[in-house]
Amino acid sequence: MGDQAKIQFRFLSQEDLLRAGCLDFNLAIDAAENALLAFRADEVLFPEKIVQIFNEETQERINCLPATLKKDKISGMKWVSVFPPNVERFGLQNLTAVFVISEIEKGFPIAFMEGTLASNIRVGAMGALAARHLAPPDAKVIGFIGSGEQAKMHLLAMKTVRPSLEECRVSAKTTAEEATFIEQMSQVVPDMRFVAANTDGERAMSEADILVTATSAQAPLLKADWMKPGSFYSHIGGWEDEYAVAKQCEKIVCDDWETVKHRTQTLSRMYKDGELTDSDVYADLDAIVAGDKPGRESPNERVYFNAVGLSYVDLAIALAMYRRSVQEGVGEELTLQETTIFEHAEIGDWVKI
Ligand SMILES: NC(=O)c1ccc[n+]([C@@H]2O[C@H](COP(=O)([O-])OP(=O)(O)OC[C@H]3O[C@@H](n4cnc5c(N)ncnc54)[C@H](O)[C@@H]3O)[C@@H](O)[C@H]2O)c1
Repeated sequence: MGDQAKIQFRFLSQEDLLRAGCLDFNLAIDAAENALLAFRADEVLFPEKIVQIFNEETQERINCLPATLKKDKISGMKWVSVFPPNVERFGLQNLTAVFVISEIEKGFPIAFMEGTLASNIRVGAMGALAARHLAPPDAKVIGFIGSGEQAKMHLLAMKTVRPSLEECRVSAKTTAEEATFIEQMSQVVPDMRFVAANTDGERAMSEADILVTATSAQAPLLKADWMKPGSFYSHIGGWEDEYAVAKQCEKIVCDDWETVKHRTQTLSRMYKDGELTDSDVYADLDAIVAGDKPGRESPNERVYFNAVGLSYVDLAIALAMYRRSVQEGVGEELTLQETTIFEHAEIGDWVKI
């Protein structure tokens, strides 16, 4: 076999990805859109994720999310740690992910890469893709409850598809978090006017054309009265809004309703409480992206969007980042094996019997 058996893969750190220009929502949104269309064309393998929970109370867990993009001849997995107590216990991030990507001609791995970036970008990219079809076209004001990592990503994502956005109102649990959000994001989106809502959710949301809840809370923070006609709501966290929010929306759209309904966020709770049925959900996003169902149809309709994450979209975004990094010459080519085990000239010295 000789040289043919050599396996090399690219190692990509978060800094490599950032340096290669992968914090690019156009890149991520295009990858997400193509992945949804591939799913509709039956060109995706999408097995159940594997969940290992280490603490039922805190939900500390590591999940394994595999997927295959048949057209790209790529298979991969996200290995993602979710440790909610990290934030309070260590002042550290809750979520840490890596991706392994393999080609499916020989089945060799081609990349091992940092995955928190792709994972967090994916949430924003799906929200933005939904907004492209469902948000008011001339949205001016975006409101947030929650000002953490997801909120920051969502602001960049929404600004990408709605450049008309000019004001961002933000409320969080503490005024200090609001101030940090504004300090960091005003550097990234300098033409945006930022307003701190002083922990007042109503102040952040009541004039918003696009509403985003991205909190670690489990409470009905967003009230139906705060959602004005014609607005678009992207729900990111768990239970964050009163049931009347979804009930008053003309359209409820999910990334995958069959997945959403078995989880624990507001729509799932409503389903389990008998307050929402299958027929109340207008569509999954792929049907709208493919043009099989219309997006926004009138200036006054309120739209509710909830995505819980699809492994093949994660993989598609990671793959787009890998390709850009190769193009930009970023990352490190590492050798996994020079040849097969018994072809090594030194094997006689290395074996222990
Ligand atoms: N839908 C998805 O695909 C997806 C993916 C990743 C994360 N998430 C979820 O998104 C949520 C946010 O994640 P993150 O990484 O941004 O978290 P984070 O810890 O960085 O931020 C949480 C934010 O919630 C705010 N908050 C908490 N309680 C509040 C309250 N009572 N009132 C107002 N604000 C409150 C905090 O002030 C903070 O700004 C989490 O629930 C996470 O599990 C969803």
